[in-house]
Amino acid sequence: MDVSSGTLRIAHVSDVHVPSRLGAEWRRMLFNKRITGWANVLLRRGRVHRRAFLTAVLEEAAARSDHVVVTGDVTNLAHESEYREARRLLDEVARRVDVTVVPGNHDIYLPSVGRTRRFPHHFAPFAASERPALAVTLPAGDYPLVKLRGPVAIIGLSSAVPRPPFVAGGVIGHQQLAALERLLRLPEVASRTPVLLVHHPPVDGRSRVARLRDGLLDADRLRRAVDRLPRGLLLFGHVHARSHVALGTSTGTLDVVSASGAALDHPDPRVRAGFNLYEVAGDGTVARVESFALDASGTGFSRVPMPVRAVS
Ligand SMILES: [Fe+2]
Repeated sequence: MDVSSGTLRIAHVSDVHVPSRLGAEWRRMLFNKRITGWANVLLRRGRVHRRAFLTAVLEEAAARSDHVVVTGDVTNLAHESEYREARRLLDEVARRVDVTVVPGNHDIYLPSVGRTRRFPHHFAPFAASERPALAVTLPAGDYPLVKLRGPVAIIGLSSAVPRPPFVAGGVIGHQQLAALERLLRLPEVASRTPVLLVHHPPVDGRSRVARLRDGLLDADRLRRAVDRLPRGLLLFGHVHARSHVALGTSTGTLDVVSASGAALDHPDPRVRAGFNLYEVAGDGTVARVESFALDASGTGFSRVPMPVRAVS
């Protein structure tokens, strides 16, 4: 944080999808959902996620910010080897800046991953709440989490639940949303600018079928829970593309922003690997919402325009 101005800089990274190293893990894929996920890796994701891109993005995100937030799908198939590798990469980032992580559907691929609490086991240092008594115990850990940082309250939600094959939708759930409403009423939270993190899209213009298949099933309830906020950021991933929506609330506007996949090699600048950068000024104003993509050399970054779409 810039001590003289009180400004907090937040870098937003998403959908890291640290790849699976097969070898000893392949047997565990038999007869479960990981088979379909692995096919997806080979047919679609495996060709376009680049390790060198991910390293460059994490390095730049840490260099330009005070706090790196990761909106889920840190792993590909929730294998232990992926969790360990993701933890190693995030530990590198955490040596330089604060890190907060929320889970995505890929991080809790199977019911067993939730039952054995693999996500909180590996990422607890990045998901610790300063108000743990208000959290609800879920398959991916205890949420909502909150961290108070200068003018900002960083609030993490879990929308990650195990789903059947070919379904990737998310749910926050009644209990967690009720806890979120209680959290938002705390004086130390209400007096700050909220920066909410969730994996699945809170605003989703796709067809009903697409939303049921891989959207946020209780997005309407989340939007009702945040409807009294006069300002703030609501950050998500999952869609692997940059977007910026100005969401009208009953008292103001929330910036609802998605990040691209952190390691994606893609010609479309909306999709190409990169990170978003936000600044919240000492008075709580959201002073900057920008996105950066890796250039063709794979080392430099260029700003990508994100046209703002108004939604009420
Ligand atoms: Fe996802």
